[in-house]
Amino acid sequence: MKKANFITALFLLFCGMLSAQTIRVSTSKTDLVLRVGGDGRLHQSYLGARLGGDADFAHLSEGPEAYITHGMEDYFEPALEIRQPDGRSSILLKYVEHSVNTLSEGVKETVITLADEVYPVTVRLRFTAYERDNIIRASTEISNTGRGRKAPTMTLCRYASSMLHFAGGDYRLTEFSGDWAEEAKMTTVPLTFGKKVLDTKLGTRANMFTPPMFIVSFDGQADEHTGTALLGTLGWTGNFRFTFEVTQTGELRVISGINPYYSERALRPGDTFVTPDFIFTLSTTGLGDASRDIHRWARDYQLYQGHEERYTLLNNWEATYFSFDEERLIQLMDNAADMGVDLFLLDDGWFGNKYPRSSDRQGLGDWEETREKLPGGVARLTQAAGEKGIRFGIWVEPEMVNPKSELYEKHPDWVIHQPDVRDEYYFRNQLVLDLSNPAVQDYVFSVIDRLMTDYPDIAFMKWDCNSPITNIWSPYLKEKQTQLYVDYVHGLYSVLERINAKYPALRMMLCSGGSGRIDYKALSYFTEFWASDNTNPIDRLFIQYGYSFFYPSRAVCAHVTSWNRNASIKFRTDVASMGKLGFDIRFNELDERDQEYIREAVKNWKRLSYVIADGDQYRLYSPYDGPHAATQFVSPRDGKSVLFAFDVHPMAYDRTRPLRLEGLDPDADYRVEEINLVPGTRSSLRANGQTFSGRYLMTVGLDVFTSGNLRSRVVEITKQ
Ligand code: DGJ
Repeated sequence: MKKANFITALFLLFCGMLSAQTIRVSTSKTDLVLRVGGDGRLHQSYLGARLGGDADFAHLSEGPEAYITHGMEDYFEPALEIRQPDGRSSILLKYVEHSVNTLSEGVKETVITLADEVYPVTVRLRFTAYERDNIIRASTEISNTGRGRKAPTMTLCRYASSMLHFAGGDYRLTEFSGDWAEEAKMTTVPLTFGKKVLDTKLGTRANMFTPPMFIVSFDGQADEHTGTALLGTLGWTGNFRFTFEVTQTGELRVISGINPYYSERALRPGDTFVTPDFIFTLSTTGLGDASRDIHRWARDYQLYQGHEERYTLLNNWEATYFSFDEERLIQLMDNAADMGVDLFLLDDGWFGNKYPRSSDRQGLGDWEETREKLPGGVARLTQAAGEKGIRFGIWVEPEMVNPKSELYEKHPDWVIHQPDVRDEYYFRNQLVLDLSNPAVQDYVFSVIDRLMTDYPDIAFMKWDCNSPITNIWSPYLKEKQTQLYVDYVHGLYSVLERINAKYPALRMMLCSGGSGRIDYKALSYFTEFWASDNTNPIDRLFIQYGYSFFYPSRAVCAHVTSWNRNASIKFRTDVASMGKLGFDIRFNELDERDQEYIREAVKNWKRLSYVIADGDQYRLYSPYDGPHAATQFVSPRDGKSVLFAFDVHPMAYDRTRPLRLEGLDPDADYRVEEINLVPGTRSSLRANGQTFSGRYLMTVGLDVFTSGNLRSRVVEITKQ
């Protein structure tokens, strides 16, 4: 052993002896107990419902090594793998020290430093615990601490954000999967010996087949009110991987992080790589509490502008697609003002002159208004919106380019493709720009900066991303190609940070041909996301239900469109009103009754958005259980509640049962009133206009379901 290493080893041994440590990361409901073992390594002694404290911890066994490294004694999937220039990939981490800091009231950060005695590698495990919300955020910092000319450059091969261990044996994984227009479908499978992997390799549109979120139930399937479950999600806007591995002893290991697929990267002396956050909650009282905890945490700590008013809007995409001109847009703005929404959103098709964006085949990348379509430019549109008393928003897709564009002609070197080797492959006729290149980052920022500088009245943007990365090769990264997937995401974050810093009031919707890109890191820059291009209200009941496990309704954009005209405007609007309400229809072509219905529903949504967008959400009836569905929101501010109830496809003799409400004060009285009634009709709800105790409503319930097809009810429940 070299002298320096010997001294480090002595130091580490000394630290280890000093600190037969127990490290507690806790929230109001959960304890994660880590302990320095007799071997000087860090072990996970416990993860579960909150215990009493030291006296309880003393009885816990040491448990498995917490953050397992490749190339040592373990037989299963490691969290960390680092290859040294000598070809060896063995890392052995021993405890060095830890610190606990209070970041704000009820938010504590614990940082545990581990180091290798042989190779200059330090790993910091960082846990941020949100006491009230029962949320823990875990990430890892991996440093090459080598110094001097001869210090080695290492290769980071796998670098998980977190590794968690569970004992028990009966594990069930609920996964979310799908495709374009069928996002967030839920399936539950048992986890038995071996590995189950949920991952993506799509790069930009990373979540097209699965978003980075999962639920693991322990000892039987958790339901809304009972059972123990881990809900986890990764804040990373790119390729992710969750590995669920059950060992021969029945231990479950959950490893979460960036997908190591084609993502090896150099770690030079002095370099530190910081992984994304793995965000989790462990509930012992079922899934309802878990989701409400995540929603509250997201609004308070993670979502961009997590508490500000959200804009209801009219989008022109399905009303016009690419066929519009200034006059048509101004007519639509008249509709928007008539409907009472806050904003008009101009979608795709407003730009390009040499190659006007008259279809998705050309013009992407040329962000100048099409003179023929919009002679007065965006200035005329923001002005018209202002005159009508509404705000103006605009669609952009600045990370992408059509090969038929001036941008591509000027900068083929900015594109991810394999020139001279392979034919270009187009997904929706477009290619992805190489955001690992700082010049491209500047360009993407300049697209937004130019719009905001020229048209400071733009209040909102819909940021789209329609192509995954294909034929991966970066002209910029040269011999460092395997860094592209990760460097791309870092490049994107640096652009988004610049935008938020310069235009803090700008609100942005995260879109990716539906929700092909959605995660909590992205949502620290975006106020909301487009849940799906599928706006058939029946399918939306499922898609919105799926996302509700992780995202509060203020983040989930839900629009009324003409998908499924068998469903009434009322049914479509009521489904969309459970999210952030918007419209994408030809309002003027609706009959007077539907128009009047929409005006009233918009008014109600705005009036009640403090309940729907900011209240606690209760999933009362899952659409998966059919033939009905119901969701209730309760505001902690004044106890007001709004209930949405749907009859999807009941059989003629369906025996409906009263629906029990939740989240009310049993000892308070509540007045029940059906709202969002079709003009000229009366409520057929027996309870309408009556007052009930919270206890009655939660014990007996309300008869809100019917045996009608595609019926819906919105009920306002006011604490007296
Ligand atoms: C995909 C989005 O999901 C749609 O809402 C629309 O904005 C189109 N792109 C426009 O090209």
